[in-house]
Amino acid sequence: MCSRTSKQFSRTLVTTALPYANGPVHLGHLAGVYLPADIYVRFKRLRGEEVIHIGGSDEHGVPITITADREGIDPQKVVDRYHAMNLDSFRRCGISFDYYGRTSSKLHYETASDFFREIDRKGIFVKKKEQHFFDPRAGRFLSDRYVTGTCPQCGNPEANGDQCEQCGTHLSPRELLDPRSKLSDEAPVLRETLHWYFPLGRFQKKLEEYVDRHAVEWRTNVVNYSRTWLKQGLNDRAITRDLAWGVPVPLDTGEAEGKVLYVWFDAVLGYISFTRAWAAGRGEPELWREYWQSPDARIVHFIGKDNVVFHTLMFPAILMAWNEGRTSEVYTLADNVPASEFMNFEGRKFSKSRNYAVYLGEFLDRFPADTLRYTVAMNYPENKDSDFSWTDFQNRTNGELADTLGNFIKRSVDFTNSKFGGRVPHQCSSEDWKAPGIEWDDCFERLQQAYEQFHFREATALGMEIARAANRFLTDSEPWKALKTDRAAAARTMALSLNLCHTLAIVLYPVIPETADRIYRMLGFSESLEDALKNGDVRWSMAAEPRLPEGHLLSGESEILFSKISDSDIAPELEKIEKLLANIGNGEEQPREAVEPEDSGFSPEIAYDEFLKVDLRAATVLECEKVKRADKLLRLQVRVGGETRQVLAGLAGSYRPEDLVGRQVVMVANLAERRIRGEISQGMILAAEGNDGKLQLVEVGGDDVNGKRVQ
Ligand code: 2FM
Ligand code: ZN
Repeated sequence: MCSRTSKQFSRTLVTTALPYANGPVHLGHLAGVYLPADIYVRFKRLRGEEVIHIGGSDEHGVPITITADREGIDPQKVVDRYHAMNLDSFRRCGISFDYYGRTSSKLHYETASDFFREIDRKGIFVKKKEQHFFDPRAGRFLSDRYVTGTCPQCGNPEANGDQCEQCGTHLSPRELLDPRSKLSDEAPVLRETLHWYFPLGRFQKKLEEYVDRHAVEWRTNVVNYSRTWLKQGLNDRAITRDLAWGVPVPLDTGEAEGKVLYVWFDAVLGYISFTRAWAAGRGEPELWREYWQSPDARIVHFIGKDNVVFHTLMFPAILMAWNEGRTSEVYTLADNVPASEFMNFEGRKFSKSRNYAVYLGEFLDRFPADTLRYTVAMNYPENKDSDFSWTDFQNRTNGELADTLGNFIKRSVDFTNSKFGGRVPHQCSSEDWKAPGIEWDDCFERLQQAYEQFHFREATALGMEIARAANRFLTDSEPWKALKTDRAAAARTMALSLNLCHTLAIVLYPVIPETADRIYRMLGFSESLEDALKNGDVRWSMAAEPRLPEGHLLSGESEILFSKISDSDIAPELEKIEKLLANIGNGEEQPREAVEPEDSGFSPEIAYDEFLKVDLRAATVLECEKVKRADKLLRLQVRVGGETRQVLAGLAGSYRPEDLVGRQVVMVANLAERRIRGEISQGMILAAEGNDGKLQLVEVGGDDVNGKRVQ
């Protein structure tokens, strides 16, 4: 097994992506971020290492103001509601945060403002004047999501300013054919505004070195996403917005008025402000520096794959900007960013907007946390997308948790209680310890590495393997028969079984902590497993050998650890999905909720085969004219191979018709025919949007490429 990192660290800071306080967290979030992080920190605590887990709510961003506008309430009310709800769900699921903060808190505002001011003081930001849509009636600039209009690609009259939900095209508000403000339903006007940009390119080289330095131990997806961005060359990113909700741009000049920090700029700094709040809460206000500004600390960000570049490029660049020219208060960059793939739900992507999800709180109203934690851990989307299905949940709960683990523990405890007076009836030797046929050294090495290297599915499966071997050992040893003929043999079997219960409680504690605690108490320990950990009475290493001495007294209690899940328990859930899928199929969706438009900037991944379906061809523009009563549209006649096609394109704001004639462009040649403004369009022409909002055609050179495939 390769060693993940050679450097030794004294302490670890684990952070988890801050969920937007704009809706309840669902099982997809749990699987990708919070459960893996919790398993990891619990394992570290078990090892006796210093570790803290910092998380919290991301309480800014346009989707939150949209929810607030829709409900006619203050954004603070929206975030109060979902912060409380998500915190409660996490608590019930056993996600053990050391601190769960909020980006609307005072300390966070101070921290984010300090960063902005420091970077501004060094003259690193670039200020740019640009034209943005403004709603004169509402007196507000409109972010992309606040603009609606007709999609230039498919004619959908209700397209959003960032994307058309009908055809999926990514848009900018200025591409919409008849833009309207969602606030007043009136046509917005373009107005000049000033914004601060973070020059990511200034840190290109350092970021390349940073990614290269970690390329071996980071997950492939993390390295690849980061390098894709680096290869394209990093551009300036706007880090301010014209909005009333967020951290105000902390400058006294009039030009900062009405502007807030971009949600992603402030969110990542939440990790720091929440660590500061954690330290303050302990009465050691400077302790946070031991995690953020010490070479002895290791920082690990657990995130989903859609957040990679913000954590491997954007956040490190912000810290580099802070660190520039400094010899003190220098921030450490993350040592690892274990980004997960996605966990699907019954074969489809979780979708909050389509209400196609199982929300964590609702799940926990019906089923115990550990049954969920176990199933989700066994489906951890470590390096490919995985799936949660109700039948898998039922099978694992009944077969693995109830029949294997639960059954073994109960049989061991019950038999000892009834036949050996509730005491461990024999002193297990190291020779006895070999009886279940487990290669302990190898087993522990693999378990440890699996937990340490974020292979949580493997760790959980190895734990269950021990339970299987233990259950088999107990059944095969038949102590109930031996009792009559060879009581010492029966005593040996039971002592070994009880010690295996103890081992299972420890090795499975990171995954199913509540169950581990119940096992621990049944074994006769009066303090909880949590307390035993804090007091140093339990350690990871204790799982590797028999620790319960002869004569050790059990609690005398025995519990059924897992109730079986019947078909009728999951039937309502399966029905719900069927109805939902039928509605989605009929286009009768639940109302869509806003999603934060700027995530990784890329559309969801598609398979190579899907990409191959798009037939891109070189085409030549033969004629071009404006379309009446459509300011943005041009009607083009293009030659592609032996055919002439008519294409309507939203290029009028960027090109004069006569400038296009003769150009060799790239067109999607197999797009289904559509009607736009009553006219047929038989393809789509590719163009990229420049910083000035103008489109620039993708062109191909060469005399003889017309009609040829572009690939
Ligand atoms: O994607 C999201 O849900 C973001 N709210 C994650 C933020 S992570 C960090 F930057 F705080
Ligand atoms: Zn469209």
